[in-house]
Amino acid sequence: MVSSVSTLKRQIDEYLKQNLAKDVDQQTLESSMAYSLMAGGKRLRPALTLATVEMLGKVCDQDVLRAAAALELLHTYSLIHDDLPAMDNDELRRGKPTNHCKFGAGMATLAGDGLLTLAFQWVTDNQLPATTRSRLACELAKAAGPAGMVAGQARDIEGEHQHLDLDALRYLHRQKTGALLQYAVLAGGIITDQPADVNHALAAFGANFGLAFQIYDDLMDVLGTEEQMGKAVHKDAGEHKNTYPGLLGVDGAKEQLSIALAAAKDNQQQLTALTGKSFAGYDQFLAYFKM
Ligand code: IPE
Ligand code: IPE
Ligand code: MG
Ligand code: MG
Ligand code: MG
Repeated sequence: MVSSVSTLKRQIDEYLKQNLAKDVDQQTLESSMAYSLMAGGKRLRPALTLATVEMLGKVCDQDVLRAAAALELLHTYSLIHDDLPAMDNDELRRGKPTNHCKFGAGMATLAGDGLLTLAFQWVTDNQLPATTRSRLACELAKAAGPAGMVAGQARDIEGEHQHLDLDALRYLHRQKTGALLQYAVLAGGIITDQPADVNHALAAFGANFGLAFQIYDDLMDVLGTEEQMGKAVHKDAGEHKNTYPGLLGVDGAKEQLSIALAAAKDNQQQLTALTGKSFAGYDQFLAYFKM
């Protein structure tokens, strides 16, 4: 049996709370990093890593927890920078004023820099085997960096002045959000030292889950409320963002969401066929997409 997402979230929250301050050596910077990190994210990315490790039969000890929690540091950096005045210019995140509203754009930029860098420290400074640590660091760099999330964010801001077709928009979403979720799942395969075909299927599940995640986020900007999301809604159109509902309408976006989720479910079945293990633990993550 795989742990519930809420149990995994509690473990991740506790690890972050106990360990962040040890590695930050400037008071305001620490407050700024902790402010966004502990503001109450869903912790879906590290929870996906931990659930994957459990389903593949390994116990999540402190070293696995540290490597998984690193991804939450990196994700939180991406949110702080995404909200900056020079990017999406948002004032509410995780139900609280954004980092730059509280600490100023300079300190918010540095809090993001600190979280990004510390993520690579945690992924490598632990007792996992050396090959595991270097593979995690390499895959995390590829997912987060200029061929992954950062490239997607660049397409996103450049796209404010361009109309993107569905293929280009799908590519953007796979990069800006799919890449980190793909890494989240793949990390579970790397930590448990899976063969290439299993890692390939894990990455495919994560990528399709990630695409669905950003389509759903676009939809919730139209259909959701500020209270529910903990961030401003009805903003994307005004910012000239390329989004699924903007391009296809709400019904067209829901249809694309279903296609991405069906692909993820295929990958889930394929994983069971390849390993002989149950991947039903992913159902609780797929349940996030309520329409
Ligand atoms: C928000 O991610 C940014 C997107 C990629 C859409 P989450 O919805 O996972 O945000 P938190 O971590 O729960 O705050
Ligand atoms: C995803 O896009 C952001 C990142 C990759 C950090 P959005 O800009 O749509 O995310 P939200 O809606 O601000 O959370
Ligand atoms: Mg953005
Ligand atoms: Mg944004
Ligand atoms: Mg959004």
